[in-house]
Amino acid sequence: MSISYEEMKRKLEKYNQMQIMSNYEKLDDKTKTELAEQIERIDFEQINDLYKTAKEEVSFENDVIEPISYIEKDKLNNEELEKYLKLGESAIKEGKYSVVTMAGGQGTRLGHSGPKGTFDIGLDSHKSIFEILVDTIKEASEKYNVLIPWYIMTSKENNEQTKEFFEKNNYFNYNKDYIKFFEQGKLPMCDEQGKILVNEKGIIKEASDGHGGIFQSMKRNSITEDMKQRGVEWAFIGPVDNVLVKMVDPILLGAVIDKKVLAGGKSVVKANPSEKVGVFCKRNGKPGVVEYTEISKEMSEQVNEEGELVFGESHINCNLFNVQAIEEVANKNLPYHVAHKKASYLDENGNLVVPDKPNAYKFESFIFDAFDMLNDMTILRVKREEEFAPVKNAEGTDSPETARELYKKFYNMQ
Ligand code: UD1
Repeated sequence: MSISYEEMKRKLEKYNQMQIMSNYEKLDDKTKTELAEQIERIDFEQINDLYKTAKEEVSFENDVIEPISYIEKDKLNNEELEKYLKLGESAIKEGKYSVVTMAGGQGTRLGHSGPKGTFDIGLDSHKSIFEILVDTIKEASEKYNVLIPWYIMTSKENNEQTKEFFEKNNYFNYNKDYIKFFEQGKLPMCDEQGKILVNEKGIIKEASDGHGGIFQSMKRNSITEDMKQRGVEWAFIGPVDNVLVKMVDPILLGAVIDKKVLAGGKSVVKANPSEKVGVFCKRNGKPGVVEYTEISKEMSEQVNEEGELVFGESHINCNLFNVQAIEEVANKNLPYHVAHKKASYLDENGNLVVPDKPNAYKFESFIFDAFDMLNDMTILRVKREEEFAPVKNAEGTDSPETARELYKKFYNMQ
């Protein structure tokens, strides 16, 4: 039983959000219950606090930001390579490794209406991105003679469709007991005055809380528990939108084990100052990433004596975490970043408003902010053409066309 009408009113009045109840009388009983559950669950104080930060300019003025050191895979000598390979491969063979895919994003820029992983980039085989990804897990499973668990983070919007897709495709002939789905969290969106928006159904408009919510969702959905029960110690957490993502890489794992750190990440050299990628850095002595939406022009263009970008280690969303670190981060709160978005909503008279310019704030946390909570991490610089073929936009850069070409080239399919 969720909270009563009176309790809802009291809570909303307290936080000055009574506009949410404007269309209450028109809702059917099921929707009223859904709204009551939202009001009971949502931390309105948190939303009001987040709104206060929405208009603040992101500034790193008070931070000391420096370039970060990394290991270049291509420059490893034989001895180092052997050492990392051995350490990484043994851990994988012993069943200590798992893969997590962040597949909660909406793929708005791509213009695909289903989950991004169901997208066909146009290969002759017409494999979906999910199948392209599972191929690499299957290959590693055979090579190391071990079944690698694959956890897929979905969102409220695409969870059902994602599961149906796997069911329909018979889990791509991978062992179904080793594929698990879990949903990421969500947060209300508010307008430019801090008023929480109501969606077309008449309930609170919520949006994904960003992939930084992954740590808490893994805990909430007992994913970390499942990992521990299976004896898994490491989780590679990667994106759904890179068809060359190397989800099982013993070298990254071995390097992280060798350096005795709890996290690792991969970088490629940033193509140009305005490429839409976050860059690794050291912020106040701790590892971090400055996102492309927040970096200043000056910082992104800074070059060293050799003419290379000072902040040129692009973060390609390939993250490796020890399960213990995931649990530690899950007990803390990552900072939120604010995005100014176009969001349709029901006004107080019950009319649907579809804005033609950004009108709302969305609050998201980012997975890489977790690096700051760990004292150190290992970054492995890899070759772009071997590991980075993003599918972001419908056309042009980082599109199905560019990703398809990179994929075919890598697999010698021309
Ligand atoms: C992202 C990185 C950027 C990196 C670039 C490399 C972030 C915030 N930024 O940018 O630093 O250089 O990729 O390609 O990630 N996702 C979820 N849930 C969410 C949001 C995203 O699962 O709430 C997933 C997406 O499905 C995707 C990945 O996270 O797999 C990246 O998402 P997106 O927000 O599109 O990142 P970019 O802006 O491209």
